[in-house]
Amino acid sequence: MIELIKKLPKAELHLHIEGSLEPELMFRLAQKNDIQIPYKDIDDVRRAYNFTNLQTFLDIYYAGANVLITQQDFYDLTWAYILKCVEDNVIHTEIFFDPQTHTERGVEFATVINGIKSALADAKAEYGISSCIIMCFLRHLSQDAAFETLEAAMAFKDDIVGVGLDSSELGNPPSKFTEVFRQAKAAGFKVVAHAGEEADFSYIYEALDVLRSDRIDHGVQAIHSAALMQRLKAEQMPLTVCPNSNIELKVFESYQDHNIKTLLDYGLNVSVNSDDPAYFKGYINQNFINLVENLPLTEDNIVTLVKNSFRASFIDDDLKRAYL
Ligand code: HPA
Ligand code: ZN
Repeated sequence: MIELIKKLPKAELHLHIEGSLEPELMFRLAQKNDIQIPYKDIDDVRRAYNFTNLQTFLDIYYAGANVLITQQDFYDLTWAYILKCVEDNVIHTEIFFDPQTHTERGVEFATVINGIKSALADAKAEYGISSCIIMCFLRHLSQDAAFETLEAAMAFKDDIVGVGLDSSELGNPPSKFTEVFRQAKAAGFKVVAHAGEEADFSYIYEALDVLRSDRIDHGVQAIHSAALMQRLKAEQMPLTVCPNSNIELKVFESYQDHNIKTLLDYGLNVSVNSDDPAYFKGYINQNFINLVENLPLTEDNIVTLVKNSFRASFIDDDLKRAYL
């Protein structure tokens, strides 16, 4: 089973590039850019990665991102993730980035996207890995701030396939961002949104009905509504599920309690993704391995999960058919 996982070419649809910042690179960049970080060594960092919910993670994740300053830093961050893709046989990846995490610190939007973009161009040239970029609005900030970000993104319209919504979910429902998503959709961006990770399934309904989302990120709380489950199945609405993340952030107590197999057996379009692999103990293959070691997943289940990731991707339909 583990051999099958390793050998299957995979797509990843839910990966925050800032969440792939490994402690070693964090230390190197902190030193280079003369940024203070609250850790004395790598072991100290790993000890701090002990979360009780989404917010306790986000506090540490935003602090880590402070070390990213120059275009080369964003290149190095992205390139390090690409090398993990090579290792795990990820042949297509759709990468989230959080512009506001950086623009709020005085780092230009262009610095961030140009660094990510040039690493992705090199990934295509060197390894044939295809990719696209999705920009997320931080939902703990205002809709006005999201509008400013959308405006900044218009200069890079051709480099950004879609917009998403992440950060502190509870108390920040999708409907807080109705207008900015309407404008983004009208401008031709695909739409995704984190919904039903920690907050209840009403957030998934809002992501679908108010934001007109093309995919739901996480979405595991859908299990609590039979009507929503039926709808997600009928529409084959993709849910980009992140097992390690859900365990590390205590959405489920253990892998045995994770509902991914139930969602899959019900007929939903679920895929496996790593979310913030540097913080959640592993990249995509490790997510699959943790699942098969703890749930009665069959080889067919694994193949379906992998096919779902291509089915739910934003690659051209012709190319998609080649993967299915
Ligand atoms: N949820 C919300 N926001 C995030 C996450 C997540 O899992 N990872 C990075 N930002
Ligand atoms: Zn996420």
